[in-house]
Amino acid sequence: MTPFLTAIFLLGLSSGATAANFSPVFEWNELDFNWPSEASRTTALKDGTFKPENIDPRFMAVHGSRIFLSLDDTYGGIPVTLGSLPTSGASSAPPKLTPFPSWDMHVKGDCDKLERTKGLEVDSVGRLWVLDSGGDDCYAKIWTIDLNNNDHTKIIHRFPVRRLMQDLVLDETPDGTFAYISQGIEQNVVVFSLERNQSWIVKTPEIEVFSIALSPKKDQEPRQLYLSKWYSKELYSISVAALRNGAGTENPRLIGKWTADPYRMLLNNQGTMFTALLRQNYISSWNTSQPFAEQRFHEVAGLNSGLPFTFALDQSGTLWMTVFDNKKKPRYRLLKAAVSEQSLMASPDAANAAEYGVKGRKLIDSSVFFVFLLAVAIL
Ligand SMILES: *[C@@H]1O[C@H](CO)[C@@H](O)[C@H](O)[C@H]1NC(C)=O
Ligand SMILES: *[C@@H]1O[C@H](CO)[C@@H](O)[C@H](O)[C@H]1NC(C)=O
Repeated sequence: MTPFLTAIFLLGLSSGATAANFSPVFEWNELDFNWPSEASRTTALKDGTFKPENIDPRFMAVHGSRIFLSLDDTYGGIPVTLGSLPTSGASSAPPKLTPFPSWDMHVKGDCDKLERTKGLEVDSVGRLWVLDSGGDDCYAKIWTIDLNNNDHTKIIHRFPVRRLMQDLVLDETPDGTFAYISQGIEQNVVVFSLERNQSWIVKTPEIEVFSIALSPKKDQEPRQLYLSKWYSKELYSISVAALRNGAGTENPRLIGKWTADPYRMLLNNQGTMFTALLRQNYISSWNTSQPFAEQRFHEVAGLNSGLPFTFALDQSGTLWMTVFDNKKKPRYRLLKAAVSEQSLMASPDAANAAEYGVKGRKLIDSSVFFVFLLAVAIL
């Protein structure tokens, strides 16, 4: 290694400091599906309906021994919009994605099938909620897949007009279950009430709600829905009381500014927020019991991707995360880390906070073009 390369290498190591100990679960140079037959795979490769290099996980949920991933289809060649992986494997070869709930449920242009899946969440009784943005001819809808009951699959809501959808969080209350939904570039939150079997819109003037996350249940009521604004570093919050009441207009409260634009946010039971930021090779965190302060939580050296991460918590509070790289191998990694209060406090990472602030500003310029690409992707 030349001295120059050595310096870069060492820099990579030192800035790879982490607040939690992530351990690798699987690594892939290329992801693939479990196909019904080798012949069907060969045909799909030949006619271009399958382009393995375009597989790009965007949303995640974990339940029991399964991980669920929504796959982006901006560049085509993705025959299946939702896949599952086991959380561990007996063989040394990394697993393939299994079309979920089945191959038959993935048919483009059929409004009764899964078309373009986005936000995912598992509720307290083991149902996977799947937000489906629909397609050219189909309105968006919400599916539930009962993971404890043979993956029994049904559409629980069809939106009455054409709507693009982005992310979904669930609020289970004594008065019923609500789903709060962001559309990516619309100035509103969409609310669905399972009990009322109805959806409505709460307008958020000036704020195109992109990523969303919900404060933990044990915190005081009403819970807070955190919102990130499209094409912005700003973080906002809104009381869910305002959302549950029905259609209306609410002004979200500005909480703070991240070092870049958030595209994925999540809170654990202890109130730690985890945030993935556009074009950045780290995820950040904030202890929501304290005034807003961004901490670098985990960095992966040398990533080349606009949306490198997606993550989810399992029932025991383990954080699962995929890391995606456009160019470098391994292109896909699955990692996990214990993120309970104890394990986080054992390795604080405050020293990194000042350093990444500077870096964040440098990198943000390159994200302008990327935001445009992202706009294309979510439409
Ligand atoms: C929910 O409402 C839709 C119409 O919006 C209706 O078709 C469906 O049957 C209703 N579901 C239940 C469980 O009442
Ligand atoms: C978050 O802040 C609260 C209040 O200061 C503190 O009690 C708690 O331990 C902090 N959590 C973590 C994970 O550091």
